[in-house]
Amino acid sequence: MAWRGWLNRMRFREKVVLVAGGTGGLGRAVSLAFLGEGAKVLVTYQKDPEFSALQKASGVNPSIAGYKLDATDPAAVDALVEGIVAQHGRLDVLVNAVGGYAGGMKLWELDAKLFDRMLALNLRSGFVLSRAAAKVMLKQRSGAILNVSGKAALDHAAGAAAYAASKAAALALVDSLAADLKGSGVRVNSILPSIIDTEANRKAMPAANFAKWPKPEDIARVILFLSSDDAKVIHGAAIPVYGDD
Ligand SMILES: NC(=O)c1ccc[n+]([C@@H]2O[C@H](COP(=O)([O-])OP(=O)(O)OC[C@H]3O[C@@H](n4cnc5c(N)ncnc54)[C@H](OP(=O)(O)O)[C@@H]3O)[C@@H](O)[C@H]2O)c1
Repeated sequence: MAWRGWLNRMRFREKVVLVAGGTGGLGRAVSLAFLGEGAKVLVTYQKDPEFSALQKASGVNPSIAGYKLDATDPAAVDALVEGIVAQHGRLDVLVNAVGGYAGGMKLWELDAKLFDRMLALNLRSGFVLSRAAAKVMLKQRSGAILNVSGKAALDHAAGAAAYAASKAAALALVDSLAADLKGSGVRVNSILPSIIDTEANRKAMPAANFAKWPKPEDIARVILFLSSDDAKVIHGAAIPVYGDD
């Protein structure tokens, strides 16, 4: 029967999912995909209009809630996760889609503040969020953490030293965390996108062939799979999601 198929696709019914950066080009598709599969979706954001747009896109779904905070601030993130557990009793999935890009500069042209910002957005966010989530998930003996790294973690192109270093370090952080969590019932994985077909990328590269770029929805499907019990044997992986790029 058709409704049985529909119920089977609701892999996250009654699951509590935190999507950090859930209003971004990728994060928005991830938030909506989890909502579509029945999750309670808690989103961190910084800019009010971006969260309002996400709420509107969800049809003002009561299963989505937003928290305005700096995901690189340990006190703010610890308080958020404590609040989630107090309210919902658990945390099943963390997706870290916070990040930023800086490129087009040789290393000697790179400002030290920009270097620190890359490390904060692409590395420290993963540390601060995973640390808070892992403590809760270890007590539950279940949970899935997904960190968005990037192809640049492996492919260190010219003009992107700070970005590549921050993504490579994020990958190392997840590898080590995976070893820490082995046998605990808590899984952690990374995905490595190349260029995603976001509005920001279309604006930045108007002459590019957009058809070659994976859509945020395509990558969201991989993230949901890795966060679901369908992927219960995948732990400590770094999955390329380059599409044709
Ligand atoms: N787009 C690509 O082509 C591409 C390629 C490879 C890897 N990636 C990675 O994929 C992830 C998502 O990329 P994206 O294109 O979706 O980026 P994006 O559109 O810039 O979204 C980033 C998200 O992070 C939030 N954010 C930024 N700084 C924050 C902070 N300090 N605290 C809390 N939230 C913060 C943003 O919120 P506000 O907007 O409200 O500040 C936004 O929701 C990033 O890790 C990125 O490096 C993207």
